[in-house]
Amino acid sequence: MQAVQTRQPPRRLRGTPRAMALAGLALAAAAVLGCAGLPSGDELDQQADAAMHKSFRDQGIAKADRIKQDANQHACSVDHALSEAAAARLMADAKATVKWPADGRYLGDWREGEKIAQNGRGFTWTDSSGATGSGGGSCYNCHQIGKAEISFGNIGPSLYNYGKNRGVADPAAPTAAPVVQYTWMKIWNSRSYSACSTMPRFGHSALMTEDQIRNVMALLLDPKSPVNQ
Ligand code: HEC
Repeated sequence: MQAVQTRQPPRRLRGTPRAMALAGLALAAAAVLGCAGLPSGDELDQQADAAMHKSFRDQGIAKADRIKQDANQHACSVDHALSEAAAARLMADAKATVKWPADGRYLGDWREGEKIAQNGRGFTWTDSSGATGSGGGSCYNCHQIGKAEISFGNIGPSLYNYGKNRGVADPAAPTAAPVVQYTWMKIWNSRSYSACSTMPRFGHSALMTEDQIRNVMALLLDPKSPVNQ
């Protein structure tokens, strides 16, 4: 199991550099104009927010409401040094969002999983459908997975031999359940185990269907998958 991570989250919509740049501008303006009152940090945040909302618009299936943050994103944006307790709360909230497979079946077809892992398309304004599961998983953008693929990102850890390294000989065996359930949770809502993870929350954000998640689960955990050879 992965240890709790409380590393610094990446900056998102608001951040100190932007606020500092605006503060710098305001200071310069004040010097030139000789005015005294500078905007407060909250006012600068509001101005930065307003600028963001002005620059984004609805186009095709990509709507401007994508820049609205949920509670977790907000917490990860404003608090750049989350305490252990705050991180634990965010992870508990994320865990509570996880939906387990309706029929108790966690694994699908690793061949389909490999296609999903390879596919980085979907959900842009030029795509015709923004429905759940209408895009790929982009897994290789961040992870090494299969040995045959030599072009992969390294933002996330290597997932090569994922099941084998965790001793999963039979994913249906009761002894494999903790690894199988952890993997489902991680893919459904990555922030269950890393409060401000950069990994997309595939189930939670309706990027993948249950079936697609089953297929990438098989890619990682099926002993017959090339990942575990
Ligand atoms: C934008 C980058 C990114 C993408 C895309 C991504 N991941 Fe991740 N993933 C990460 C990072 C970073 C971690 C390390 C833990 C953390 O911070 O969440 C991780 C961790 C994991 C873990 C836990 C590994 C362990 O040893 O506990 C699994 C499993 C995983 N990813 C599967 C996937 C799958 C399957 C996909 C595609 C459907 C995927 N990831 C797509 C970034 C990504």
